[in-house]
Amino acid sequence: MWLRLRGRRAFYTLTCWAKTDCGTGRRLPEKEEECVQKEAKTQFPIEMSLGQRWSPRAFSDRSVEPEKLLSLFEAARWAPSCFNEQPWSFLVVTKEDAAAYERLLHCLVAANRRWAVAAPVLMLSVTQLHFARNNKPNRYAFHDVGLAVGTLLVQASAMGLYLHQMAGFDRERARTVFEIPETHDPVAAMALGYLGDPEQLPEDLRQRELEPRKRKALSAFVYGGGWEQPSRIPRIPPGLV
Ligand SMILES: Cc1cc2nc3c(=O)[nH]c(=O)nc-3n(C[C@H](O)[C@H](O)[C@H](O)COP(=O)(O)O)c2cc1C
Repeated sequence: MWLRLRGRRAFYTLTCWAKTDCGTGRRLPEKEEECVQKEAKTQFPIEMSLGQRWSPRAFSDRSVEPEKLLSLFEAARWAPSCFNEQPWSFLVVTKEDAAAYERLLHCLVAANRRWAVAAPVLMLSVTQLHFARNNKPNRYAFHDVGLAVGTLLVQASAMGLYLHQMAGFDRERARTVFEIPETHDPVAAMALGYLGDPEQLPEDLRQRELEPRKRKALSAFVYGGGWEQPSRIPRIPPGLV
């Protein structure tokens, strides 16, 4: 694989000239593909598929293979949940189903619709608000749907797919359009696909696509024996960002 570093973007943009994804060794659909490298710069080692996940706005027009979609939901299916209630549901539409795709696309706020329109798959996560076992409110319903999406995300990353989640959509419109009952809440919209070329984005979005990723330091959210007390796990670097 040859890598070509390009000017200002050299730090995180690589152009691959072989049938492998930049840095990951994954097979690419075309002979030449541009991709943005935004792998997490971790302070401690993590699983490769976690480190390689990020939320792009530039998607390739390559369709997602049905068997990969099935693997994604198989991964979500095996997520843990409170009382094993599995309160999640997913509405999944592909560009092949143009009418349904348009319906979900038009639930997104305009700022998200701008780029999500390139994604070959759009999804909506939904959660059941009460336990099926006793009809009491399930205060873990949102936690559990997030966990299911978390496992789906890792599976997507392992298969070379990228997912961008969105709070920016019209919940009531989604409820009406997809006839979601009052017993359930729409949670997050998602765009799924293979990485595209950031050059396809308008300038403002291209800038954001190429921005380095930022995270809080471990010490900012891992506490010890009291609230905001430093953790005693050895080697958590205090205040290191
Ligand atoms: C629940 C949730 C809602 C989000 N909503 C939006 C959104 O409406 N529009 C958007 O562009 N990104 C959205 N994001 C993406 C985040 O901005 C992104 O995950 C965060 O900046 C970290 O970047 P990374 O995923 O590339 O690590 C959302 C992410 C999550 C988990």
